[in-house]
Amino acid sequence: MQNFVFHNPTKILFGKGTIPAIGPETIAFGSKVLLVSGSGSLKRNGIYQQVSDSLLKAGAEIIEHPGVQSNPLLSHAREGIELARKQKCQVVCAVGGGSVIDEAKAICAGAVVNYDVWKFFTGKKSITAPLPLTTVLTLAASGSEMNSGMVITNDETRQKFGFANKKLYPKTSILDPEATFTVPADYTAYGAVDAIAHVLEFYFTTQDPATPVQDRFMEGLVINAMESCNRVLADLNDYQGRADLMWTATLALNGLTAAGLGKVGFPMHLIEHSLSALYDVHHGAGLSAIIPGWMRHQCQSTPQRFTQFAGRVFDCRSGSSEERARKGIDALEEWFRKIDSPISLAALNISREAIPQIAENAMALAKVWRMPDYDGERIQAILAGC
Ligand code: NZQ
Ligand code: ZN
Repeated sequence: MQNFVFHNPTKILFGKGTIPAIGPETIAFGSKVLLVSGSGSLKRNGIYQQVSDSLLKAGAEIIEHPGVQSNPLLSHAREGIELARKQKCQVVCAVGGGSVIDEAKAICAGAVVNYDVWKFFTGKKSITAPLPLTTVLTLAASGSEMNSGMVITNDETRQKFGFANKKLYPKTSILDPEATFTVPADYTAYGAVDAIAHVLEFYFTTQDPATPVQDRFMEGLVINAMESCNRVLADLNDYQGRADLMWTATLALNGLTAAGLGKVGFPMHLIEHSLSALYDVHHGAGLSAIIPGWMRHQCQSTPQRFTQFAGRVFDCRSGSSEERARKGIDALEEWFRKIDSPISLAALNISREAIPQIAENAMALAKVWRMPDYDGERIQAILAGC
């Protein structure tokens, strides 16, 4: 167990009928609100109306910034920054999934400085005092609703970079599982894969040999992600399943799992970001194509972690420890197949010839994320196994 500081300042309002609280929670920070949203699903299911009604009722003046797309683009974030500045917005409210919340974080950070927001992502500038952010989450996946991270794609350089800073935590996030009833089966599955990936990144890269508290917490999150996703795929309006999946995805990347693990990595995301940057693959779908290949690669260096994972998550009890480790990876891959999430680059229509270009794209992020052990050759070897 390593030393750690755990401080997550985001207030969570969880459950049925919590969306109307967004108005008061937001104007606590100012009445001129930039409302950031996606490309239309929330207009169709009435959630956008609920949020804007609540903001107006609380006395907010709303400036709209719609049109955030999945894998949000720097060019659109820049437009939002311009708008927030020109209109002197005092607070930003994001209603949507991880893409909307992440672009909103970039706007909060970029609106208060006189240099380009991309400088945060390349480590050239650090965050000053971002505008406050409140969110209404409508898709269980990224954990952005309760963390300090944001991921933006630079549409000029085709780079999808992630950046985190403790001043980027949302002030308040509203998690109403009913807001996710309209998330289709494929995006529900991709969200569960993303949550599982967030857990596995830390579970398999911690160097600390004795982290029993975190291990069982993480193993439980993986089991809950699978079980709740199965429930929802059986009935998209299953409130219990949607609630369990939502809270699991939030806990999977809000700092709690990593507390005490010491130095951890994010290698699967390092590689997936390149798939999304180059091919606009949905983040979770890119991850399910990479996770099995990365696990088979990593298993060669730390087999005992994989044997423990196989036993505790998939109840693999027979055979040698190497065989059990492999069975655990096969079982997770089999579950991805069952939920129709792609399990190979081929399933994403990405050919083997593209591997060098993907690896080169990932190398740029490996430098910014200071992951020297991920050189081009190693990334190509992992991709060849996907
Ligand atoms: O834009 P609309 O029309 O609303 O459609 C959205 C979007 O196209 C739709 N959607 C959202 N809520 C819905 C809904 N459709 C029906 N009903 C609802 N209630 O779903 C589509 C995908 O939404 P998106 O926000 O892109 O998905 P997700 O929440 O998985 O976010 C993915 C983004 O999160 C980033 C990823 O890189 C990716 O850009 N991540 C952010 C992280 C963070 N901040 O810590 C970490 C993660 O690893 C991840 O990288
Ligand atoms: Zn992710």
